[in-house]
Amino acid sequence: MKRILVTGGCGFIGSNFVRMALNKIKGIHITNLDALTYAGNLKNLIDFKDSANYAFVKGDIRDGKLVSTLIKDGRFDLVVNFAAESHVDRSILDPSDFISTNIAGTQTILNAAMTFQVPLFMQVSTDEVYGSLGPDGYFTEITPLAPNSPYSASKASADMLVRAYFHTYNYPTIITRCSNNYGPYQFPEKFIPLFVTNALENKPVPLYGDGKNVRDWIHVEDHCEALWTVAEKGKPGEVYNIGGNCERANVDIAREILRLVGKPDSMIQFVKDRPGHDRRYAIDNAKIIKELGCKPKWNFTDGLKSTIEWYKKNTAWWQEIKSGEYKNYYAKQYGK
Ligand code: NAD
Ligand code: TYD
Repeated sequence: MKRILVTGGCGFIGSNFVRMALNKIKGIHITNLDALTYAGNLKNLIDFKDSANYAFVKGDIRDGKLVSTLIKDGRFDLVVNFAAESHVDRSILDPSDFISTNIAGTQTILNAAMTFQVPLFMQVSTDEVYGSLGPDGYFTEITPLAPNSPYSASKASADMLVRAYFHTYNYPTIITRCSNNYGPYQFPEKFIPLFVTNALENKPVPLYGDGKNVRDWIHVEDHCEALWTVAEKGKPGEVYNIGGNCERANVDIAREILRLVGKPDSMIQFVKDRPGHDRRYAIDNAKIIKELGCKPKWNFTDGLKSTIEWYKKNTAWWQEIKSGEYKNYYAKQYGK
């Protein structure tokens, strides 16, 4: 695995993956194709700007001509598709970019990868495609897909296309479905970085509904390690769930963040619930542990502490984001 094309590498998980791979594996080369939407930030990989092992290409996975030329000339051994619109709240306000990037964009890059015979295509998907759980049970790789938001519906559609390319054309693809990530470089519209940065700014933290929705949390480094293991040892045609073995109710995380930042619980502001808010996600990750020997290493309290430290040290990174386009967007939509 020498030459890798990563899409969406200027976002949260993509940039952590590129950093991990370049630091860990000698002699690889990564090309990062990213459209630099509101969520893409060149500063996330600024340390590799002049590296001979890294190249950035500004471009859109929906641009068939650009994607074909890049892949035709690239001699890639692997494509890892992170590029997506990724925020559920935005998908509720306007699903259109989610449909075009997450579905049509995935098909465009998948088709080019097959046409120019890239040996493996990995689709970075989410546990949200499985829908919502009650108080018991776990998502396994054979849980039927039942997405509830425009975001998860678009990711489920992409998964179906990736699956179809394997079954119809015999093209080697793998789908990974990971739970909620947290860690450095996460855009501060998502739950954990929003609450951490609001707490640091002495602003209320807006908790949806009764705050008892449950997510399974995984540190982004554990997700990236798992993706690398899947790239090396995964079997084409398979789906692998990636989870953190770490279910938490939102209200408990909100309290833990406030405690770690040294702020009172009274900063929690219960706000109107998200429409169609999935109640609980929980991943059964037995398959990836048993078949590929891959387990998460971070425990949640240590991971959260180190994430908070990162946001404290990198105030310029998130303050620039929070005072820009993002601020106008959220002020208009939510008054946040
Ligand atoms: P993100 O929003 O932080 O980053 C997305 C990146 O994709 C940005 O750099 C953006 O510029 C780029 N992009 C968007 N549209 C593009 C297009 N049309 N062409 C090229 N680039 C484009 O997202 P993230 O949280 O890093 O998520 C990455 C992937 O992982 C997504 O596919 C997401 O569905 C999946 N995922 C995320 C989580 C999570 O907790 N964040 C969990 C499981 C799976
Ligand atoms: P989010 O980070 O948007 O991830 P996802 O919806 O993809 O799981 O949200 C995580 C949880 O936090 C989810 O149950 C919604 C909740 N949440 C809030 O309570 N307040 C907020 O401001 C946000 C962004 C999320």
